[in-house]
Amino acid sequence: MPEIFDYFVPWLKGQKMYFSPHIDLAWRRPELHRLMSNENPNPPSDKVIEAILKYGKMANRYADQGFAVRGKLAEMNGLPGIENVLLGNGSSEVYDMILRSFLQPGDEVIQHTPCFGIYKLRTLVAGGKMVSVPMKYKWGDEHLQYDPDGILKAITPKTKVIIVANPNNPTGNFMDAAHFERIAQTGIPFIVDEAYVEFAGVKEKSQVGLVSKYKNVLVTRTMSKAYGLAGLRFGYALGDRDVIMQIAATLIPWNQSTIAMWAGLAALEDTAGLKMRVDFNNSELDRIMTEVNKIPNVKAFPTRGNYMLFDSKAPGKTGDGMIKHAESKGMILRGQEPMYGSDGWFRLTIGSKEENDMFIAAVKEYFLK
Ligand SMILES: Cc1ncc(COP(=O)(O)O)c(C=O)c1O
Repeated sequence: MPEIFDYFVPWLKGQKMYFSPHIDLAWRRPELHRLMSNENPNPPSDKVIEAILKYGKMANRYADQGFAVRGKLAEMNGLPGIENVLLGNGSSEVYDMILRSFLQPGDEVIQHTPCFGIYKLRTLVAGGKMVSVPMKYKWGDEHLQYDPDGILKAITPKTKVIIVANPNNPTGNFMDAAHFERIAQTGIPFIVDEAYVEFAGVKEKSQVGLVSKYKNVLVTRTMSKAYGLAGLRFGYALGDRDVIMQIAATLIPWNQSTIAMWAGLAALEDTAGLKMRVDFNNSELDRIMTEVNKIPNVKAFPTRGNYMLFDSKAPGKTGDGMIKHAESKGMILRGQEPMYGSDGWFRLTIGSKEENDMFIAAVKEYFLK
């Protein structure tokens, strides 16, 4: 008799539930400083809390399809209407819907590494194969460089989706606008992840204009970062009406809670709240970068996310060693696999002013002692 495991789809075998040990640790030990998950250090504004309370009292009711907040997002992004907007329980869920919509087992997805890990996990669960194109880098470069030619070269007849984050996590930089257009022209579903775009400015940096020009371009965003609502779970995709509505066939009914929808709308309307968070983040980024770049053999990469990547070639020091040193001071940082022949990588999420001071002190202690 076959056993239950013989009935699972073969591509699920070996795949595991995703969880973040560092986030679990941070909840278990609230005294630790959470400088690791690209969260916003500032809690939601009063206007958002009011919406949470108001709709918390109506939590016995099902949500509608999100008319109000989808309308607001369409209007903010110069799109015709709610059918250009797909809501997700975080943008991670939006990726799941997109990948399930386009992939059959064996199909390929192209991502640009290093990058956000969920693209790969959701690709594998859909039976797809992840093709990773590395960014270009050598010690001394200002940035890790996007490689649009490398992405175009990686296309095969099996390529069904191309994903590029702008700015990229964890490198913090942006790809030139002209390269988005080149990739869009392939006709392959092209997803631009703008999870952090508000920190640099939607007007200045968003590629949402391509959505009206190319049906195959989708832009994803989240309210987990600049809006500071990671725990609420609010992500969305913007795209051509017919494309969005086809992907919406995969949407689990009532995926986004009533509370998230209305709190999200309140956050979108609270433009002063967003500006405060963005200004705080960007001035802290500049301060940390200036301080860390004073340390010989340590490089902080310019970023307009709420995180910063570092490389080091200090003799006898490693990124892992830095993370352990920070841990001994009560801070949780994020690691980065050795890459480009260096084991000096480590990552920071911007914290409160005090936490950032602690981080700067810890980096100086570790690399200068
Ligand atoms: C590039 C990028 N995209 C998407 C997300 C997912 O955000 P969420 O699922 O919270 O909307 C993250 C989270 O860290 C990210 O770094």
